[in-house]
Amino acid sequence: MSGRVIPIRIADAVSPAPTFAGPTVIASGETLSDQRGRRVRDLRISVTDRCNFRCVYCMPKTVFGRDYPFLARGDLLSFEEIERIARVFVDHGVEKIRITGGEPLLRRHIENLIEELARLPVELTLTTNGSLLTKKARALKDAGLTRVTVSLDGLDDAVFKRMNDVDYAVGDVLAGIDAAAAAGLAPLKVNCVVKRGTNDEQILPLVRHFRGSGHIVRFIEYMDVGSSNGWNMTEVMPSRDVIARIHAEFPLEPIGANYDGEVAERWRFVDGQGEIGVISSVTQAFCATCTRVRLSTEGKLYTCLFAQSGHDLRALLRDANSDDALRTTIAGIWRGRDDRYSEIRTAETARNRKIEMSYIGG
Ligand code: GTP
Ligand code: 5AD
Ligand code: SF4
Ligand code: SF4
Repeated sequence: MSGRVIPIRIADAVSPAPTFAGPTVIASGETLSDQRGRRVRDLRISVTDRCNFRCVYCMPKTVFGRDYPFLARGDLLSFEEIERIARVFVDHGVEKIRITGGEPLLRRHIENLIEELARLPVELTLTTNGSLLTKKARALKDAGLTRVTVSLDGLDDAVFKRMNDVDYAVGDVLAGIDAAAAAGLAPLKVNCVVKRGTNDEQILPLVRHFRGSGHIVRFIEYMDVGSSNGWNMTEVMPSRDVIARIHAEFPLEPIGANYDGEVAERWRFVDGQGEIGVISSVTQAFCATCTRVRLSTEGKLYTCLFAQSGHDLRALLRDANSDDALRTTIAGIWRGRDDRYSEIRTAETARNRKIEMSYIGG
């Protein structure tokens, strides 16, 4: 077992390899800080780059068609490899793990991975489009999943189908949400990406439907993530407009964050019927408190959702069978991190070639 830093391969050779500051061997449990003093607290693991939906803001059919070169099975990290990386991150201070994709419930035997990760001292959650929840909610809960976040971009069938672009009906997602709630995967969050002119008329119907249910709906500003959704600022509905619209029918008041660096800004209904959230990555960037790191399906590590390149951990896992090397490399990557894309976004950077969200994880 060597204490030396193992060189990493940069996925697309766009950015230079980070320089590793500090000692060559990183002790287990040592707190890590990046170039802006941010800790690593939240690990998001993408378990598949495939999805049975084609949401227009994420996997538009024009790009993700029949011939799209999804990853081959042999390229995927195994559950054992994912678990090894997760353990190292937990040693480095990660407190929350989110399983994402693509659609994570499409990954075969996903409950086996959940069962292993649930042994770690973390909050374990998962983001899903809900289509497989009626089938899988109970098994996920039994495997140790803490809670789920379900994406739902409208309550009207026609609008929802326009968003998912595969003719998927709202009722099936609602049934999935009910199954998750019945299994005890709570508090359950519902994510709605708002595209002005496409589904913004669904904000109030969603609020009316979920108010008082105990589920928390969050409205997300449409982002220029990836390079395929044809993002345009005119289609972004600022969160302050979302809040104003809801407040006009159901008076709201702001409430504090659950934890430092929470992405969603929380608002509660004055009449006590619960809360909603808004996520404003475009109009109010939250990079200053960003403690998130993302592991792609094939084992590349990304320190920003808008990254153009990642760090290949799979090669390291498979070439050098040493957790010390992994720990040291991960520490070096995090220490070198200086990302703040949303703070410095311009019309020009929005056109940059970036990694797709279905690949990197939501
Ligand atoms: P919980 O508080 O644990 O429920 O998680 P969360 O608030 O991080 O929510 P979730 O993981 O569901 O993220 C919601 C959405 O916020 C994502 O799908 C993205 O659209 C956006 N988001 C999350 N993290 C980031 C980030 O680091 N950068 C940007 N720009 N957007 C993010
Ligand atoms: N803008 C904002 N959020 C997005 N997501 C995917 N693409 C985008 C985008 N362009 C997020 C949504 C969805 C999750 C899986 O990924 O929150 O619910
Ligand atoms: Fe699939 Fe989620 Fe992307 Fe929609 S947003 S295409 S459900 S990964
Ligand atoms: Fe974090 Fe990058 Fe999102 Fe900023 S844009 S909050 S640095 S992931």
